[in-house]
Amino acid sequence: MKSSKRSLFTLAVHAGERAPRPAYTPVATPIHPSSSFYYPDMETLDATFAGTNDGPMYTRYGNPTVTALEQAVAALEGGESSLAYGSGMAAIHGALLGAGAKSGSWVVAAYDVYGATYALLSTVFADLGVKVRFVDATDSGAVESALAELRPVALIAETLSNPLLKVADLERLAQAAHSHGAAFLVDNTFATPCLCRPLGLGADYVIHSATKYLGGHGDVLAGVVVTSAERRRRLFEVNKLVGGNLGPQEAWLVLRGLKTLPLRMHRQCANAEAVAARLSVHPEVARVHYPGLPDHPQHSLAGSLLADGLFGAMMSFDLRIATRDRVFRFMEALRLVIPATTLGDVYSLVLYPAMSSHRALEPEVRRRYGIGDGLVRLSVGIEDPADIISDLEQALVS
Ligand SMILES: Cc1ncc(COP(=O)(O)O)c(C=O)c1O
Repeated sequence: MKSSKRSLFTLAVHAGERAPRPAYTPVATPIHPSSSFYYPDMETLDATFAGTNDGPMYTRYGNPTVTALEQAVAALEGGESSLAYGSGMAAIHGALLGAGAKSGSWVVAAYDVYGATYALLSTVFADLGVKVRFVDATDSGAVESALAELRPVALIAETLSNPLLKVADLERLAQAAHSHGAAFLVDNTFATPCLCRPLGLGADYVIHSATKYLGGHGDVLAGVVVTSAERRRRLFEVNKLVGGNLGPQEAWLVLRGLKTLPLRMHRQCANAEAVAARLSVHPEVARVHYPGLPDHPQHSLAGSLLADGLFGAMMSFDLRIATRDRVFRFMEALRLVIPATTLGDVYSLVLYPAMSSHRALEPEVRRRYGIGDGLVRLSVGIEDPADIISDLEQALVS
């Protein structure tokens, strides 16, 4: 823009903006905070609206930083494409709508999905007329008969469930879902593509709360759905209207986190194995739920499903004295491990499911699902495992 004749008011707004395309490419993807994008001629803008030109036009429709993240997550999951959302819950909501959940249709869900997923289905979707049946996803007979009876549009499960770390036989569930005409949705947040890539096992949609391991540093809220290009088009059309988009600043943080995902996962899983082994023989701990322990009910399935001999960095354990007071005392005595409502960060974190992630469930339902009053969930971070263990041990005898 020629600046000499413009007033200071105009210059303050326009000077320096929309510089011509540079002849270099930044090594790290830049953050593009722009809500809209400029094209020098109307024909190109028209082609962009028509979808024959690939460029962005308005950030609710797409943004270069967000697109970079979507391409990265799709590549890691071995999928054709992905769509990023403002949170993991927005991603789950989008994937369910994309799979065809609507008034009168059925959804079959693992009963131990994340508490908010359970609540989303049993309140928001239920109020809109979507019918839901919760089943034990590790009981193939129960899943099969629910699918045969209800002919749902979708079956949704988690690779590693929250908080009991049950392992889903994804290949079997995918076959069962498809043989009854249902799409198979997998929340792969706990496993990450480092441990498992569900699309290769037959999943139609892979969902992440990227707030967790993908971001990895506890500084961003984000969600992603990885799926085929055709299914993504449907997700996109809905999200264009719903507007649950991920912002470019957040996309950049997740993209940055992804670079160290495999490094963090290998370290965190190794740490978790050491912690689980120690907790499982501690007199103040009644039981440890960790797929890497030989007494875990799906230990051998975990061995074949999860890659590289890794069993994840999440576990939960029941305190010997299973009361809310005892759990509170334990959590308040921790000096390194942080009692906070999240998981998958570089920090080690504990959470009390009965009070937080699964608070929305009736106490009786919680107990029926094995989420007792003494259950603590632990997300193992990248610290020195000896320091994590010593902090847990001092708190257990406090
Ligand atoms: C397995 C799982 N899925 C989805 C979510 C929701 O993610 P977000 O908090 O990013 O909406 C969570 C949150 O803890 C989770 O643990």
